[in-house]
Amino acid sequence: MPQTDQKSTQLNGKPAGTAQLILNGQTVDLPIIVGTEDEKAIDITQLRAKTEYITLDQGYGNTGSCTSAITFIDGERGILRYRGIPIEELAEEATFMETAFLLIYGYLPTRTELEAFQQRVSDRALLHEDMKHFFNGYPSNAHPMAILSAMTCSLSTYEPDLATSNPNPNEIDTILADLLAKAATIAAFSYKKSAGQPYVYPKSSLSYIPNFLSMMFDSPTKPYFLDPDIIRAVEALFVLHADHEQNCSTSTVRLVGSSRANLFAAISAGICALWGPLHGGANQEVLEMLEAIQQDGGNVKKYVAMAKDKTSNFRLMGFGHRVYKSYDPRAKVIKKLCDKVLAKIGKNDPLLDIARTLEETALKDPFFVERKLYPNIDFYSGIIYRAIGIPTNMFTVMFALGRVPGWIAHWKEMIETPGTKIGRPRQVYTGLKQQKYVPIHLRG
Ligand code: CMC
Repeated sequence: MPQTDQKSTQLNGKPAGTAQLILNGQTVDLPIIVGTEDEKAIDITQLRAKTEYITLDQGYGNTGSCTSAITFIDGERGILRYRGIPIEELAEEATFMETAFLLIYGYLPTRTELEAFQQRVSDRALLHEDMKHFFNGYPSNAHPMAILSAMTCSLSTYEPDLATSNPNPNEIDTILADLLAKAATIAAFSYKKSAGQPYVYPKSSLSYIPNFLSMMFDSPTKPYFLDPDIIRAVEALFVLHADHEQNCSTSTVRLVGSSRANLFAAISAGICALWGPLHGGANQEVLEMLEAIQQDGGNVKKYVAMAKDKTSNFRLMGFGHRVYKSYDPRAKVIKKLCDKVLAKIGKNDPLLDIARTLEETALKDPFFVERKLYPNIDFYSGIIYRAIGIPTNMFTVMFALGRVPGWIAHWKEMIETPGTKIGRPRQVYTGLKQQKYVPIHLRG
């Protein structure tokens, strides 16, 4: 098969017959398409035109919003692959920059390509000096996710040439390198501001993760020691976060980007979506939950009971997933990494014991077993971040930085796919029928 046909089949799915829908006695033929891993979909693009019906799928549990060749998940079997490569292999061996290249460009880079990519990213890490004033304008207890989102959008004002609704294909490499690099600088500056410490400027001599750690932890009196094992752990964590197909924040990036809003605006919206406690914000919530259990005397059973109680709003944070109905493969890797990092640092974190007991108790409980609720990526990641000195309110920022390549890859795939339409779901209206306007003097 010629390369172009292969690419277009990958992006559009392979036609695989027809489904018949019988509506009020009328039979409607709807095309079936299958993906490369045999996932099946009924294409309803023409449904409304043919029948005046729409489909209703609150929470989109059964709705594919696009076809995509970036990431494959099989939630039943606990499989996650980026461009076909198992997540376990990437987390073990690949750097974050290598993974970013893989996600964005679709293949593993050669050494020369990787070096050029890293250099392009490093060269764009410096913020416009005026942007520093914004950081001073936030209260010192401002949540860094709010700052990250606002500043990412503000990049559009400092880089108007890159913040274009119709990027020239030759400029896309610069736009995405700019965003990747500056997101890390913004994140580190927001931390320095909250800690009341001087900003540390990016160093183009360092690669992405060491540079980020240096901007976070260097101080004028004591340079941060860049421990290779800690760097490797952060590389692995960022690799594990780098993409997860059509999750809430990635769908947000695609939706905002589909209006042809610029990349900075689309990713700023994705950061806000990620912030929520049911999504990336869960990693901060997990740690706060473990601390609450600790302060409450370590009574794990009480919290498991609360999570099962339908009259309480409490959920076990870091548990459950829309797609995984077996152990989240990312959580498996992170659990092992957690032991490694704590051993390296020589710390014995009592929260880790609470987390382990909580997991054990929940996984034996019929409520969690029946609903197939397992620890997800956010359950153990916070313990690692805490061990290496990342403050709790920065955990979701770490998730966001890791996810930037995935957001970019989806935005790029979308804008490069011919015929992409603006995202615009429909609804079933359940409000009042037409009524007359009553002037205010007659309303009493
Ligand atoms: N604790 C207790 N019960 C839960 C939990 C939980 N963490 N998660 C789901 N359930 C129950 C839920 O009450 C429901 O029970 P029932 O069928 O009796 O009504 C059932 O399991 C299905 O839950 P759901 O809310 O319909 O599932 P969902 O697919 O809409 O939600 C979720 C997925 C991740 C939002 C949810 O599991 C949750 O709130 N988890 C805690 C927050 C969390 O850890 N989020 C991070 C997700 S992984 C990182 C990322 O990619 O975002």
